[in-house]
Amino acid sequence: MITCDSSVQLPFQPAAGGLACDGVSIHSISASVGTPAYVYSAAAIRDAYRAIDSAFGDYPHAIHYALKANSTLAIVRLLRSLGSQADANSGGEIAVAERAGFTPAQIVFTGVGKSREELDFAIAQDLGAINAESAGELDRIAAAAGAAGRVARVALRVNPDIDAQSHPHISTGLRSNKFGVALQDARAIYAARRSVGSLRFVGVHIHIGSQITTPGPLQRAAAALTSLALELREDGVPLEHVDLGGGLGIAYEGRPMITPAEYAAAVLPELRRAGIPVVLEPGRAIVGHSGALIARVVDVKQYPDGRRFAVLDAGMTELMRPALYGSFHRIVPVAPRQTTETPWDVVGPICESSDVFARERQLPDLCVDDLVAVLDTGAYGAVMASNYNRRPLAPEVLVDEGGWSVIRRRQTIDDLLALEA
Ligand SMILES: Cc1ncc(COP(=O)(O)O)c(C=O)c1O
Repeated sequence: MITCDSSVQLPFQPAAGGLACDGVSIHSISASVGTPAYVYSAAAIRDAYRAIDSAFGDYPHAIHYALKANSTLAIVRLLRSLGSQADANSGGEIAVAERAGFTPAQIVFTGVGKSREELDFAIAQDLGAINAESAGELDRIAAAAGAAGRVARVALRVNPDIDAQSHPHISTGLRSNKFGVALQDARAIYAARRSVGSLRFVGVHIHIGSQITTPGPLQRAAAALTSLALELREDGVPLEHVDLGGGLGIAYEGRPMITPAEYAAAVLPELRRAGIPVVLEPGRAIVGHSGALIARVVDVKQYPDGRRFAVLDAGMTELMRPALYGSFHRIVPVAPRQTTETPWDVVGPICESSDVFARERQLPDLCVDDLVAVLDTGAYGAVMASNYNRRPLAPEVLVDEGGWSVIRRRQTIDDLLALEA
């Protein structure tokens, strides 16, 4: 059995006809849509969403799914049907959230460098909250909202200088990171703008990083957020929510991992000190385990020193995380050959030496045309894909209730060239 961690089963499991997603044969999907392709389990997304929702129990909370993790329309719609709200990180994500059916009030908008156009759009939409990243941005929001005759609902993102103990590229809560304003400046920033008629301070926001695997940093973030909220309450700021951001990690290696229940147990005692409703922005923890990138072996070679390479038809253009962060993903053959396991370098077809999914990974023999699944790629997979080398984007498939459907078709060269003069 392939597990998320010691207790939760992954949707991708070996079956009689080879690997299956919730019982649906990966062979049959790839025979129809080709490779590379992303396959997602709707059931896994539902389970992960509900696990977080129920972990927060009766404490007033709203889950704003972070679209940046995976914003394919059908996935966003699925989350909406479960009762989720949305966290958007760009004007494009706001637009996608709205096309998925979210009302503006259900959307919070974060982003470290929002353009004037994005701010105007967000203000015109009257979003649930615009999470401002600096005093200057608050002032630009105030001016734009004032000019439009509107009142913008805003929260200030604070940087608490807390180490998320994650990969440096996805840690956002340290003084050395570009995100938010210094925690100790926040009170004065709010105070100086309290009388600005075009701003309504509805919350405070924090997000210290992603793929956080222990409760400590999350608990410290909740403590910092709550202390600030209590101070702001003392100052008479009528906060509607505190926004704890996302960050909950997943078990890429299949080892025990912080659970949603442990996450809630770590942060709820802190949040209760103020009792203000909490906004959560999970992305990875909701969709990460739900997806696999299915690829075909297109070449196999061995150097005289014995090093062996399996070259796939998917690479950093489809899944950038290994090249970007050196991140680990389990790789399983769809129909494993009955041989002993030996070390393989599993690599992509791109002319970059960072285009490597795994080095010296113990795998059974791989041959040209074999299919492999790169697991736990539901988050920060398809959304980060690129057209480098003029490679069309891979299709995405959603498995649900014993059937499957293409939720994004494969891009064609005509699609690519349609944008060009
Ligand atoms: C502001 C904000 N909220 C939420 C998230 C989602 O984080 P995760 O996918 O780790 O839950 C991110 C991603 O880094 C983010 O930048």
